[in-house]
Amino acid sequence: MIIWHPYTQEATELPPIPIERGKGAYLYTRDGRRLIDAISSWWVNLHGHGHPLIAEAIAAQARKLEHVIFAGFTHEAAEDLAARLARLLPAELNRVFYSDDGSTAVEVALKIAIQYWYNQGQPAKNRIVALEHAYHGDTIGAMSVSADSPFTAAFEVLRLPVFRVCSTSALDELLSTRNHEIAAMIVEPLVQGAGGMKMYPASDLKRFQELCAEHNVLLIADEVFTGLGRTGRMFSCEHAGITPDLMCISKGLTGGFLPFAVTACRNQIYGAFYSTDRSHTFYHGHSYAGNPLGCAAANATLNIFETEPVFERILAIERIHQTHLADLRKHPTVVDVRMLGTIAAIELRAADAGYLSSVRSRLYNFFIEHGVLLRPLGNVVYIVPPYVIGPDDLHYTYEIIGKALEIL
Ligand SMILES: Cc1ncc(COP(=O)(O)O)c(C=O)c1O
Repeated sequence: MIIWHPYTQEATELPPIPIERGKGAYLYTRDGRRLIDAISSWWVNLHGHGHPLIAEAIAAQARKLEHVIFAGFTHEAAEDLAARLARLLPAELNRVFYSDDGSTAVEVALKIAIQYWYNQGQPAKNRIVALEHAYHGDTIGAMSVSADSPFTAAFEVLRLPVFRVCSTSALDELLSTRNHEIAAMIVEPLVQGAGGMKMYPASDLKRFQELCAEHNVLLIADEVFTGLGRTGRMFSCEHAGITPDLMCISKGLTGGFLPFAVTACRNQIYGAFYSTDRSHTFYHGHSYAGNPLGCAAANATLNIFETEPVFERILAIERIHQTHLADLRKHPTVVDVRMLGTIAAIELRAADAGYLSSVRSRLYNFFIEHGVLLRPLGNVVYIVPPYVIGPDDLHYTYEIIGKALEIL
């Protein structure tokens, strides 16, 4: 049996690198090399690989209760997680629905939004608005609200029709005329990750929220990537001082140990499902919903925010990003640099700009040869490190990026 790897074109790419163990910001290969994981293994790792407290929490939970069906049952780890999230999230977001990963958190949010109106006798209010350049996951619903891209091209027939906007004024125009058809708007707050680490101002996010509220449309904040400190605040929505109606959280939630996700929503939304009429039930649930091991990993991950100087580490990363990006900005190969919190992006000049840009493979291989895992999004090189990365390793990562620009 041969393994089929995700987002991998084996006809042109090097074979997968066997990794034996991870520690802090490092991955150790079977052939004795050490790689700096400068992308937190697809943005999931926060406190470092192999963090002993998270590993121990999972082990302890496994010895007690590995899993139980989450319909009709509950358990301590799930209750603890809800209590912890209540302390972190805006008070209005006081219902949490557990699922498996970022894509399912988004599917859940879209379905809740649509059924919210359906349950109130407005089945025609069922369309979703999304932003240009968005990425919300690979399942059919999440892929529908994601922008058209090489990832989605083969699946046009399956994708749901979505209204797409690129600005606050376009949203204003759309909602002014068609809000009776629209259930919700979904956004990645401030940073559009997989779309190329594109960033937009907090004032736009605030305006999106105001327009949605004004026109009776729910706002879904997809914080799958941006949540849990990534942008320098616990949640990216905080930069704009907004509370969305629904929020999706995953990736870093378990510190990068286990797949787990949360869709949080306002109690008022839950109210539209609470009924003696059973047809109002949210008939959605995954086999592993509320998995105790995932909850234990999430509890330990959130606990580390309270017991370790996590936001000081985040600030230290920001400062290093700022210094290096100021230099890189002047490089002739660089079109743009952007950053927010721990996220830094360097957009390179390329005749074939975009996800399929030919510079991507050359860069990727060069970085690996020099001991750094960076996975450019086409011609956009980005750094999204675990928060525990040491300053020397982050400076070294920039040194290697600088060298790569020289050979391009
Ligand atoms: C903003 C956003 N939403 C959703 C997803 C999908 O998450 P997952 O890959 O865990 O399904 C991603 C993944 O990169 C993401 O960046």
